[in-house]
Amino acid sequence: MQVTIETRDPREAATDLLALPLPSLDAKKLRLPSRAAALDRSLDGRLRAVIEAGDFRGEAGETLTLYPDSGAPAKRVVLIGLGPESGVDADAVRCAAGAAIAAAASRKARKLHIVAPSLRRVRAPAAAQALAEGVVLAGYRFDRYQAAKNGKGQTVEAATLLFERGGDLRAARASARVGVVLAECQNLARDLSNEPANELPPAALAREAQKVAKETGLRVEVMGPAQLKRHGMNAILAVGQGSSNPPRLVVLEHNAPPKGKRGKPSPKRPTLCIVGKGVTFDSGGISIKPSAGMDEMKHDMSGAAAVVGAMRACALLNVPLHVVGVIGAVENMPSGTAYRPGDVVAAMSGTTIEVLNTDAEGRVVLADALHYARTRFEPQAIIDLATLTGACVIALGKWATGLFGNNERLIERVRRAGEATAERAWPMPLWEGHRKAIRSDVADIKNTGGREAGSSTAAAFLAAFVDDTPWVHLDIAGTGWTSKGTSYQPKGATGVGVRLLLELLREWKGVRLG
Ligand code: BES
Ligand code: MN
Ligand code: ZN
Repeated sequence: MQVTIETRDPREAATDLLALPLPSLDAKKLRLPSRAAALDRSLDGRLRAVIEAGDFRGEAGETLTLYPDSGAPAKRVVLIGLGPESGVDADAVRCAAGAAIAAAASRKARKLHIVAPSLRRVRAPAAAQALAEGVVLAGYRFDRYQAAKNGKGQTVEAATLLFERGGDLRAARASARVGVVLAECQNLARDLSNEPANELPPAALAREAQKVAKETGLRVEVMGPAQLKRHGMNAILAVGQGSSNPPRLVVLEHNAPPKGKRGKPSPKRPTLCIVGKGVTFDSGGISIKPSAGMDEMKHDMSGAAAVVGAMRACALLNVPLHVVGVIGAVENMPSGTAYRPGDVVAAMSGTTIEVLNTDAEGRVVLADALHYARTRFEPQAIIDLATLTGACVIALGKWATGLFGNNERLIERVRRAGEATAERAWPMPLWEGHRKAIRSDVADIKNTGGREAGSSTAAAFLAAFVDDTPWVHLDIAGTGWTSKGTSYQPKGATGVGVRLLLELLREWKGVRLG
């Protein structure tokens, strides 16, 4: 979809659908924003009439369609509610753009114009970014396996954002481009997560990362079982040994230092690592999951998908950091060669893991991925993303990603990035008791800490592999997938994490963490 910014008067927009987002209105003391008032005049007061009749109140999500006849060249004008003005933030604008796309799609409209709302709390560049994100995210369809729909699910070809003359249009244009890139990279993450496991085993996920690297100039390295073995990554190998689709470790690098110079972290261009759980299918292994809903475990690589999407965005937006994406890609299957409950595995770090439940595989994969990221790149900070625990789904549901870490300042920054992007991440405890709960009788640690505080004990397990590097863990088990669509989020994979990560990385201030 093409997204452009224009300063045309909405009354002159020749388009299939002109969307007009409006905040909540008081029908008795009606004061329309200036461009809406001008449009109302050319529509002979019909806009005012529907509001005074009480048929449109501007509530969030509300829409109403008008047909202008000769009053304006647009085929339809769709009013879109933003909710009470005092509460209108960037996400309300993103939602309105999503509603505009839905209105356009249901009428097979190809050309969409949106009147950018002028708001006190959301300045023009922020509104441009949110509108661009909203239209591109809402236009997403995963229909490549439906012959009749393939590629036709979305009809809108061009979205034009109408801004008022005089504002900072250059900044708005630049922000709209950022919004398009972020949303396209989030859609890439959604595509990877939605892809069924037979189509996207670990090797195929690695190939997708290589494609992105080729397209954007990222450095990429893919390790297969032989190299994993050489590095002593027995934890990843253990999880993968039950599947006939062997594991991969993928490293993507943005702004990689010239070869030979690695190992020396540069203060000018700090290194940040983002690490993703890439379990392409999680059957549970020998500790097999119940069959109901097991199909959804094709998205157990959503952390990895977010890493691929975020790395692409880092490249396209020239993030001025050395960003390294590390993905542990495995398939967790039961078979005669599968790892078993009771097995003891020595991870790359030397820490021994007692496997008490083969379904707690994500943390075992991340053990090696985190240790590798830390020791090879010596990053200033590590952020991992993982569909790690059902317990997190119970605690926070789809409303927030679980946020854990070993550094309060980094946790707070990530929390803020989540608020700013409407990818909310909520702080969860990680205490000494959680670390104690995963002590093993036969090895250094065990891979489950029992039913109590399951997402905190999982985080405590990961903490054992980052040493004292500032680190944040995002448990996206509840936010990576949705069975109910919303304005800019169709059913299925959400691509969560891409917007949050880029907000964090683009605003990265050299860290004096602690
Ligand atoms: N991939 C699952 C967690 C998950 C559950 C993600 C629901 C998305 C939706 C993870 O590998 C898992 O199975 N965790 C177990 C851990 C337990 C065995 C300690 C869980 O949460 O039940
Ligand atoms: Mn599992
Ligand atoms: Zn899993």
